[in-house]
Amino acid sequence: MNTSTLTETKEAQDFMPINGTDYIELYVGNSKQAAHYYKTAFGFQSYAYAGLRTGLKDRESYVVIQDKIRLVLTTPLKSGTEIGKHIDKHGDGVKVVALWVEDATTAYNTAMERGAKSYMEPTLEKDNDGEVVRAGIYTYGETVHIFVERRNYNGTFLPGFIKWETPDYNPAPTGLKFVDHMVGNVGWNKMNHWVEFYENVMGFKNILSFDDNDISTEYTALMSKVMSNGNGRIKFPINEPAEGKKKSQVEEYLDFYEGEGVQHIAVATDDIIKTVRDLRSRGVEFLQVPSTYYDVVSDRVGEIDEDIAPLQELGILVDRDDEGYLLQIFTKPVEPRPTMFFEIIQRKGAQSFGKGNFKALFEAIEREQELRGTLH
Ligand code: FE2
Repeated sequence: MNTSTLTETKEAQDFMPINGTDYIELYVGNSKQAAHYYKTAFGFQSYAYAGLRTGLKDRESYVVIQDKIRLVLTTPLKSGTEIGKHIDKHGDGVKVVALWVEDATTAYNTAMERGAKSYMEPTLEKDNDGEVVRAGIYTYGETVHIFVERRNYNGTFLPGFIKWETPDYNPAPTGLKFVDHMVGNVGWNKMNHWVEFYENVMGFKNILSFDDNDISTEYTALMSKVMSNGNGRIKFPINEPAEGKKKSQVEEYLDFYEGEGVQHIAVATDDIIKTVRDLRSRGVEFLQVPSTYYDVVSDRVGEIDEDIAPLQELGILVDRDDEGYLLQIFTKPVEPRPTMFFEIIQRKGAQSFGKGNFKALFEAIEREQELRGTLH
């Protein structure tokens, strides 16, 4: 018998193979208008619909798509629903981070045996295009993971949905390709609890850690650990607040979201300059770092393929690690509460998360907090 290697051990522990992010469902106040926003501002395409026209009485969902990214936008049609209560408490936000698996029942049963809390038992859904099995577990806050098994399905999205077609209004895509990572904000001293949840229940690995010395400014601090599944297609950094002179962005999030939840969705592009120029022209608002950031960027990251001028013009940040570099930029929150936002990222070898940008970035967030009156 071969002696076991580190690689074999790691593979053996990947007991929950995940192919990728299946969809992200947001509970929102007005799904019809939210869908319009994601089409107009971000270049998502009309994709699928379920609601009154498909026989649903209590909610309406619009699904928009861009390459591999699917957003489900759901609003209740009457008062007193679970969805409505979620929106009342949290505002618009992410409810479901759905994970594409080969076998949803096994994924669910494995997670449950390892201590997960059930959200939805394995459920078979069928229509003329085949069948899908979905099952769900809770993660931090009221956020859930739904395992989606779609190997026997050829329809548009899920059974119960019809194609959503809008022949008269289809703004062009902006080059967004797939979900690179999704970040959760959790409460004081809760980061390690959720790190252990992803390790023990889902078989993820902690691939990077940042303490409050890595992520702090003069005023605020946070800590973060990055969890990754076996094949690296799913990466979930988990943030918790750390003590600082003033209230950190994570605390501000927890206050306004009234609990733990998804802080940002990072989406990948192959051409960040083109994508961000397009997004800005469509009204997407980004955090702005001071122009002094660009005075030293070449010294800090060395040679890169891009000219600095368009990066500076658009506010795109650069960072380098041992494997290469990355370009990234962060939107302002996309809802009235200062909660969820998007990151646009282009990786050129680097597999990290922009540690060299944390300080400039968090100072930019603090300036926004100051304007909101929440930095105190
Ligand atoms: Fe990020």
